[in-house]
Amino acid sequence: MANSIVVFGAQWGDEGKGRVVDIYAEGADLVVRSQGGSNAGHTVFVDDKQYALHLVPTGILRGKRCLIGNGMVVDPEYLLREIATLEADGIPVRPHLLISENVTLVTPYHKALERAHEEFLGGRKIGTTLQGIGQAYMDKYGRTALRAVDLLEPAILEQKLRENVEFKNRMLAGVYGAPPLEFQPIWDAFQRCAQELAPMITDTPPLINRALDEGRRVLFEGAQGTMLDVDFGTYPFVTSSHPIAAGACVGAGVSPTRIGKVVGTAKAYTTRVGAGMLPTEVSEDLAERMRPVGREYGTTTGRARRIGWLDIVVLRKAAVLSAPDSWAIGHLDVLDEFATIPVCTGYRWRGRLLDAFPNSLQVLAECEPVYEELPGWQQPTPQARKLSDLPGNARRYLNRITELTAVPVSMVLVGPRRDQTILAAPPWD
Ligand code: GDP
Ligand code: IMO
Ligand code: MG
Repeated sequence: MANSIVVFGAQWGDEGKGRVVDIYAEGADLVVRSQGGSNAGHTVFVDDKQYALHLVPTGILRGKRCLIGNGMVVDPEYLLREIATLEADGIPVRPHLLISENVTLVTPYHKALERAHEEFLGGRKIGTTLQGIGQAYMDKYGRTALRAVDLLEPAILEQKLRENVEFKNRMLAGVYGAPPLEFQPIWDAFQRCAQELAPMITDTPPLINRALDEGRRVLFEGAQGTMLDVDFGTYPFVTSSHPIAAGACVGAGVSPTRIGKVVGTAKAYTTRVGAGMLPTEVSEDLAERMRPVGREYGTTTGRARRIGWLDIVVLRKAAVLSAPDSWAIGHLDVLDEFATIPVCTGYRWRGRLLDAFPNSLQVLAECEPVYEELPGWQQPTPQARKLSDLPGNARRYLNRITELTAVPVSMVLVGPRRDQTILAAPPWD
């Protein structure tokens, strides 16, 4: 029996990680986010009420102890707004949330610089969420970032913030010709944030490791997805962190030896927001039909998501990088209407069959997806609660995913609501 589970995204994000984490969180003691920031948007329904989590781990909806791990980049003002929104909706956050001292802080200049850089790129822009994520990680790796622990030391905070604002203003004005930012309002906001967040800031790795020592259950909530990983995704059209399963360890201060189980989340098809290639992309007409059923609009930006058929080459890559024990496959219901469903099993490139995702975007641009046509089921699935409730062809579709990736399916989602979940095995077994 596992007492720690990593849930990660196997595609380009928005696979339904929030939904899957919410199911595992019911039996968890601690829920930890390890990477990304407010670029993430995890949507969960509790009864008829929809919640969107961006920085706060999804376990908060189950009243669990939640940790913002060291690998995250956090805009303190955004976090306080998110906490206020959740608490106004009757979800207590402050008593349950802790923030790692080593978290990197996102500031207004990160957002201003990101906006300016996306404008500079013009037609080549990444299509980021404009949440300052890339700029904050640049400062982290450049060793100039502010960290949550600085919020506990006003004199150091002020000095670092002053230096940063001065330097970033030179960049904004000199490189991008953008208006500079004023120090005082940023400092005022940071002082208020420091006061409010200080009681939650602590050294988190000992807490997680102690929980594991005591046999309590720890759930690691991934954000983004494998194909957005800064090392392994469709670079440069990626985010700036490590959404692969291993990212959970570095981003939380936990050894790989402590991870019990890894669950990869994927949709029964593929989606992507932002720029970059999506090899199995369907026509805009078809995407428009699927979008309302799959609720394919960004949780963070509201942008319409691009849609493609299921890409097994992508899932195989996720399987290589994260070695999941199982898949949680969501959005099966969105495929209910189709008579046949194409599934991409490989790419054809200059007459050769590639079964691994190419690292070169030039090669990828020349790839043609090779499809296998699977029979559809043309019956509604949102009422199914166990595998045997699913139409035979829906079960065959899931089995085919397992055959093609050598990874079993442990969970199937047939709608956005909590009860629209099929468990092939009890979650923590
Ligand atoms: P995440 O970022 O991976 O947590 O995924 P998002 O929450 O951004 O996107 C998933 C969207 O699909 C949300 O609007 C969910 O409410 C919705 N959703 C989740 N699972 C299912 C499902 O199985 N079927 C359908 N139709 N919608 C789902
Ligand atoms: P969740 O956790 C989908 C995408 C952006 C853009 C690229 C870089 O909800 O699955 P960034 O703002 O991170 O610098 O943008 O990554 N992106 C996501 N796409 N789901 C997400 O998070 C994403 N987070 C970032 O659209 O293409
Ligand atoms: Mg999302």
